[in-house]
Amino acid sequence: MQRKFHSVQPDTFAFSAENYAWAERQLTKYPDGRQASAIIPLLWRAQKQEGWLTRPACEHVADMLGLPHIRAYEVATFYFMFQLQPIGSVAHVQVCGTTCCMICGAEDLVEACRQKIARQPHQLSECGRFSWEEVECLGACANAPMVQIGSDYYEDLSVADLSEILDQFAEGGCPVPGSRRGRYSSEPAGGLTSLSRDGEKPRLAPAVALAVQSASRRREV
Ligand code: FES
Repeated sequence: MQRKFHSVQPDTFAFSAENYAWAERQLTKYPDGRQASAIIPLLWRAQKQEGWLTRPACEHVADMLGLPHIRAYEVATFYFMFQLQPIGSVAHVQVCGTTCCMICGAEDLVEACRQKIARQPHQLSECGRFSWEEVECLGACANAPMVQIGSDYYEDLSVADLSEILDQFAEGGCPVPGSRRGRYSSEPAGGLTSLSRDGEKPRLAPAVALAVQSASRRREV
């Protein structure tokens, strides 16, 4: 799919004071003359600040790094972690459509997104809170099919699972990420066949535990 900047753009971009200080700190991590290497973290921070990556934000980051604007455009349009158009304010669903996920039902998940969110990828739902797109392999192939929402992976999904997750987001909840079949990580779906941990209680994988923890912190605030 062709990746290009949204046709409607803001006039300007500036980092908030906090993000600017953060960006300046990133530049000190690289040897003199190699500050261009900070382009991905800086673009990522700009996206986090605005919700999506605008053209003025790319230009601002390029200027900070002393690069021609085209170098920032190249990075932004290459990686699909960068959203070049506004996304849903509550959840942007990235459905992996590569081989393992496709064989295990990704096309049904895409259809569910069409039904529940919007007919076309990158189109905002009527309420403006949701959007979706199909992406290439997200590296969780053993737990296919899966989607990424924000920083979290939801794995071993059925259409009903995805539907439930979207409903939970719509109601203001934070659905628990990870496997929907109760897998700890990417062990065999039928249970461990070697190196089993008999007697050990099931627990959440660290990334899932972290997501649950930060969701409950957000609820407390
Ligand atoms: S094929 Fe979907 S995560 Fe790799």
